[in-house]
Parts: sequence; C-alpha cells; structure tokens
Amino acid sequence: MHYDSIENNHGLKHDPFKALVAPRPIGWISTISNDGILNLAPYSFFNAVGADPNYVMFTSVDRKDSLRNIEDNGEFTCSLSTWDTREGMNISSAPVDYLANEFSLANLETTESQFVKPPRVSRSPAALECKHWKTIELPDVVDQGDKGHFMTIGQVVGVYINDKFIKDGIVNTSEMRPLARMGYMDYGVITPETTFVLQRPTVDDDGNVEVSKTEWDGIYR
Ligand SMILES: Cc1cc2nc3c(=O)[nH]c(=O)nc-3n(C[C@H](O)[C@H](O)[C@H](O)COP(=O)(O)O)c2cc1C
Repeated sequence: MHYDSIENNHGLKHDPFKALVAPRPIGWISTISNDGILNLAPYSFFNAVGADPNYVMFTSVDRKDSLRNIEDNGEFTCSLSTWDTREGMNISSAPVDYLANEFSLANLETTESQFVKPPRVSRSPAALECKHWKTIELPDVVDQGDKGHFMTIGQVVGVYINDKFIKDGIVNTSEMRPLARMGYMDYGVITPETTFVLQRPTVDDDGNVEVSKTEWDGIYR
C-alpha cells in the first residue's frame, strides 16, 4: 500500500504512522507546578536531539500538565522507563486532574535531582535533568494552521546513572532494559540478547569500504 498522509486515507483499522516510526524511546517526564505539586507522565514523541550541549525534546499533543509546568517553571527531568518500571510508567499516563500527583498514583518513590527542582523516579536506572529552552508549536505546512502539537526542547544540565550499570567505564544500556514504544498498544524492550555492535565504515583512496575490526576508539565519525 502507499497512501496520502494528508488525507490519511490508509483504509486500515488504525492509523499506522506510529507503528512505523518505531521503536521510540519513552521520556518519563517529571515537573513541578507553581503550587509545588509533582507531575509525572510518559512521552514517546521523545528523543535526544543534540549532544554537547546535550538536548532532548518531547511533544505534548495539546497543552498537557507537563508542558504547563515546564512553561511556568522552566525545568523537567526525564527518567528512563524500563521493563521493571513498565506498570508504573503506564499508570502515570492516566488522564487525571492537574492537581493529582502521578508519583503517588503509580506508587513510585522520588529521588531529589541535583541540578533542577523536579525529582526523578527512584527506580529508574538513569535520568536527565533539563532546563527548558523553547517550545515550538508544530504547524500543518500543507493545509496551514496549527494542530496543537507542542514540541518542547530542553538542555540537559545533569545526568544520573545508577553505578550498578557502569562497567569498565561503559554504560550497559541493555542491562537497564529500556522500553521502546511502538504503535497501537505495543511496546518492545532492549535486552543484552537483542543488542549488537557495528563499527563505523571508512573508505580508502581507492574507494574500498572497510569496517573497522578493532575496538571503537570513542570518536563518532
Ligand atoms: C508510552 C506512552 C507514551 C506517550 N507519549 C505521549 C506523547 O508523546 N505525547 C503526548 O501528548 N502524550 C503522550 N502519552 C499520553 C500522556 O502520557 C498522557 O496524556 C498523560 O496523562 C499526560 O500527563 P500530563 O498532563 O501530566 O503531562 C503517552 C502515553 C504513554 C503510555
């Protein structure tokens, strides 16, 4: 099949778009309201968008509480959502009142951040502490007009990693078992069994492509 994504005439049972841009990492965003109420919610329109300076973004579809708190107070954290915390992550997505604290709702403990006010999820093996840079409302460039998608970009100013997952100076991401969002109600999980290494290729003066067989030297080419 091949369909017009503006008309969205896919003819399928459900819109397949999110099932195709997969897997997506899940940013488990915590914020604090002006009244000091904690907020926690998962966002899978989420990713790292720059390194050194480190940047992440997530998109709020409509103006949700996380966005409101970030625009009010300029700070958020992204805890890594993992296999072990999957149920809490899911519960924290429940549509509840602005005054509800989803950490309590999902029975999740908090740990103070070091560089921002919103805490992280204690059980998460890693968390990013972020300062808000900018929110961009995504337009519909074809039909014009706005559709209420707010891409929120923040700079990472602090990083927490549970030392248990650091070995010989390398973070063992797959041992953390991060979740991956797919389409529909489907998820995946990264495990050591599904993780592999590919060294970067180089091309010599004669046009021969070679993939390095030696251990990576730490430079992203
Ligand atoms: C795995 C997962 C990913 C989600 N990703 C998004 C997303 O990218 N954008 C969004 O607006 N809502 C997303 N949601 C829904 C929000 O988590 C939900 O609307 C939540 O109540 C928002 O909370 P808040 O109003 O406290 O920010 C997602 C839910 C789940 C379970």
